[in-house]
Amino acid sequence: MRILVSGGCGYIGSHTVIRLIENGYDVTVFDNLYNSKITVLDKIEKITGVRPDFVLCDMTDIASLEAIFRDSHFDAVIHFAGYKAVGESIEKPLMYYDNNITGTLNLLELMEKYNVKNLIFSSSATVYGLPEKCPVDEKSPLFCLNPYGRTKLMIEQILLDLCNADKDFSAVMLRYFNPVGAHPSGLIAEDPNGIPNNLMPRIISAAKGKIKELKVFGDDYDTRDGTCIRDYIHVLDLADGHVAALNYVFKHKGNIAVNLGTGNGYTVLELIKTFEKVNGVKVPYSIAPRREGDSKSTYADNSFAKEILGWEAKLGVEDMCRDAWKGALNYE
Ligand code: WQD
Repeated sequence: MRILVSGGCGYIGSHTVIRLIENGYDVTVFDNLYNSKITVLDKIEKITGVRPDFVLCDMTDIASLEAIFRDSHFDAVIHFAGYKAVGESIEKPLMYYDNNITGTLNLLELMEKYNVKNLIFSSSATVYGLPEKCPVDEKSPLFCLNPYGRTKLMIEQILLDLCNADKDFSAVMLRYFNPVGAHPSGLIAEDPNGIPNNLMPRIISAAKGKIKELKVFGDDYDTRDGTCIRDYIHVLDLADGHVAALNYVFKHKGNIAVNLGTGNGYTVLELIKTFEKVNGVKVPYSIAPRREGDSKSTYADNSFAKEILGWEAKLGVEDMCRDAWKGALNYE
């Protein structure tokens, strides 16, 4: 079976492509390389022995996107492509709505036109905003704090309406918690173009001396050590979650939202300490003021993923720290 992977050169996309190939799927990737590099295809080939088909395509260009559907038949689409920087989305909301929403509408229209009715969508725990209670389950209230998060929530709503209108359509919306780590080979890792804002890339930059120190955004939260709690999940566990969702989507119609998290919460300081212990490095940091919009604590109730997908995370925070550092050492 052939799977079309949008944004397949990206961090989560590329790790998922590896798992798809290892599970016997044929894969076509399209990507506009805005936040990724085409060299990742060489690394996927080195790891799996198979080079996925690739098309340079921007999903806002419906003509070039349609050429992909005309050339091959796809059994499903896994949709990663989208801008995902929270801060950038606040500065450039129209760019985010145009790319993420218009691009997704183009993709869905072509899926309908070419009778491709199975979709896995890369959603995010960001749709829960500032959760009142943890662990967060899929019935928790949805509320978004920024344009990036709102594009994720809007696309979830679009899929709800599409599945109501087209009873043959099947969509699984995977709400990722905090993806970190890298393939244990060290050949691919999180390698965003530009300056990463997430915690793990900043820990790595501080450990490498690329930045003088990591700024810890607040240590006065009502948590066990005053810093925020998050559910960090290894990107390979996340990739396996997509393979599990694919098995589900072929057998079911309609749309469901599923949390992909470990169910465990770690504070910022705990992640720093684990990273230092596992890798034998020092992470220079200082306490800075709180970051606007941060939730005190967000971690998953992942029981639905276990029940409906038969999936659960297998890798722990030490594996995440070890693999993230090993991958980062291979990048400049
Ligand atoms: C984690 C914790 C920060 C950087 C974001 C997106 C979410 C998803 C995952 C895409 C927080 C603290 C961070 C730093 C710090 N992305 N921190 N110093 O905000 O939980 O989620 O990434 O889907 O949509 O919102 O992740 O890694 O930015 O922050 O102290 O330099 O680390 O305050 O407590 P976040 P994060």
